[in-house]
Amino acid sequence: MGSILHPAIRAFRDEDLAGVLRIERASFGRDAWSREAFVYYAEAAPHLFLVARVSGRIAGYSVATLTRYGAEIDSLAVLPRYRKLGLATALMKATIRKLRRAGVRKISLMVRRSNAAAIRLYRSLGFVRTATVPNYYPGGATAWRMRLTLP
Ligand SMILES: CC(C)(COP(=O)(O)OP(=O)(O)OC[C@H]1O[C@@H](n2cnc3c(N)ncnc32)[C@H](O)[C@@H]1OP(=O)(O)O)[C@@H](O)C(=O)NCCC(=O)NCCS
Repeated sequence: MGSILHPAIRAFRDEDLAGVLRIERASFGRDAWSREAFVYYAEAAPHLFLVARVSGRIAGYSVATLTRYGAEIDSLAVLPRYRKLGLATALMKATIRKLRRAGVRKISLMVRRSNAAAIRLYRSLGFVRTATVPNYYPGGATAWRMRLTLP
C-alpha cells in the first residue's frame, strides 16, 4: 500500500483496467485509448505496463514496449488530482530500471510540443529532443521525438 510520497508501483493486473481507463479518459479526452488497446499492451509487454497506486487506488499508469532499437514509452498518465506529486517520475524510473536490467540502451517517446508538463518531466529524467515531427497527431499538432540513452 503506497502513500502519496511513496506510491506503490507494480505491473498491471486485469482488475486495474477500469482504473486505468478512468485515468486515460480524464487525461486524453477524445484521444483516449480504447479498452482494447490496453488489453493489447497488457498481453504484448505485461512487465512494462505499470500502475501507480495511492491508498489502494490506481492513480497513474505507464506503458512501454521493446522495439528494434531499444524501447518506446507508449503512454503515461496520472489522475488530475494526483499530479505534481512525483507519480509519473516514479513510474518512469521503475520503467527505466526494468529496461536497463533488460539490457536496453535507448528509450524513445513522442510528446506533443505543446505538452510543457510532460516535456519537463522527460527532461528531468534525462531525455533530450532528437526530432520535431509536424502533423504527427490527428488535427495536425507537432510532436517531439525524445530519447534517453542509458549509460
Ligand atoms: C505529464 C504527467 C504524466 C505528469 O505526471 P505527474 O505525476 O504530475 O508528474 P511528476 O509529479 O512526477 O512531475 C515531475 C516533473 O515534471 C514536471 N511537471 C509535471 N507537471 C507539471 C506541470 N503541470 N507544469 C510544469 N511542469 C510539470 C516538473 O518538472 C516536475 O518536477 P517538479 O515537481 O520537481 O517541478 C501528467 O501531467 C499527466 O497525466 N498529463 C496528461 C497526460 C499526458 O500528457 N501524458 C504524457 C503524454 S506524452
